[in-house]
Amino acid sequence: MAVPLSLFSPWRFVRSTRLIKGLRIPALQLHTTGSVMGVTVEDFNHAKAQLNTLKKDPGNEVKLKIYALFKQATQGPCSTPKPGMLDFVNKVKWDAWKSLGSVSQDEARQEYVDLISSLVGAEGPAQATAKPSGSSAAYETLLVTTEDNITTILLNRPTKKNAITVEMYNEIVKALELAGKDDSVITVLTGSGDFYCSGNDLNNFTKIPDGGIEKMAKDSGELLRGFVKAFIDFPKPLIGVINGPAVGVSVTLLGLFDVVYATERATFHTPFSQLGQSPEGCSSYTFPKMMGTAKAGEMLLFNKKLTANEACQRGLVTEVFPDSSFQTEVRTRLKAYAQLPRNSLALSKQLVRAVDKERLHAANNQEVERLMERWLSEECMNAIMSFFQARARL
Ligand code: COA
Repeated sequence: MAVPLSLFSPWRFVRSTRLIKGLRIPALQLHTTGSVMGVTVEDFNHAKAQLNTLKKDPGNEVKLKIYALFKQATQGPCSTPKPGMLDFVNKVKWDAWKSLGSVSQDEARQEYVDLISSLVGAEGPAQATAKPSGSSAAYETLLVTTEDNITTILLNRPTKKNAITVEMYNEIVKALELAGKDDSVITVLTGSGDFYCSGNDLNNFTKIPDGGIEKMAKDSGELLRGFVKAFIDFPKPLIGVINGPAVGVSVTLLGLFDVVYATERATFHTPFSQLGQSPEGCSSYTFPKMMGTAKAGEMLLFNKKLTANEACQRGLVTEVFPDSSFQTEVRTRLKAYAQLPRNSLALSKQLVRAVDKERLHAANNQEVERLMERWLSEECMNAIMSFFQARARL
């Protein structure tokens, strides 16, 4: 988790900007439609007018897409300089426009008209086509599938290295809750793209609620507490399939998994003191227990980044696979596990966890209390500010 960035002026703008309320930086994919190209100016203007008639907020991702298509349609490909890291609002807008690449103005106009008309259409009687809750379609940041008795929760923000937004925290909790009750035998957590996860999205705290940063620290603490609790209490075998580098909370949580498979390309990094913060995910308890205090200290206090093989030697990872065969070898292994009797597996897992459960909850509570203080500390503010300033200079 990261710090409230109260020192930065840009988020005053963030707070007052409807477009990025509940900011999430999307990976926009422009997909072609079956429509014939060549919308008229009237069609385009009509679509613009229809946009103002929408009753429901279509969400930030769609609003950014609309913005990007409008810019592309009216001005062509984005050629303006990339805004700095601190210019949050303009940066997400710029990202959205830039992601359209060399799409022609005609195509962008067509996409714009199609998109608005689909939004307007969805508000009519055809709304019965709404996606059922619990399906993958209900998630913005995850892809959740069940196949071969395995429920897979895929972190799905590859362009942001699967950094965990507030929305993703909530969606993971929801996905775990449903996976815990579904018919699958085991549950897998993995990432899309070249990273497993880059930890807490450092933009999470750029929106200050009315109660100020104290309220934000409290809300963030409660979010983290519930998130980690969902892992502590998860009732079935939980397997981590670590497809690339892992940072922060995505590493600390691994002590709560039952088995962790990693590609040799994976690394494990918990740069908490670098950010003026402190460990979470029950790692203050699980890491010393699994690797000894001296080795845990190197990671949790002094930010040592481990290779996959080092993590395996320390007991954080079960087994390391060559990157070229990682997915197939792991899948074969998991399919075999998922043929084992469901109840026997679940009860065995619960027995193993029961020994430590109270301690895990206590560790979670203590870690959250400490972090809520850390997020308000000058050390933490300065560390985070340096991080953003360094990126803004890039
Ligand atoms: N929070 C917010 N954005 C993040 C992020 C995070 N934790 N991790 C990656 N991103 C974003 C980057 O800002 C970048 O966005 P941009 O394309 O709009 O500039 C994009 O994801 C790709 O990351 P980039 O830094 O260009 O890739 P990289 O391979 O050079 O480095 C990381 C990847 C993860 C090492 C680097 O992004 C990083 O250090 N992130 C912060 C990790 C962190 O401190 N997490 C919290 C731990 S407590």
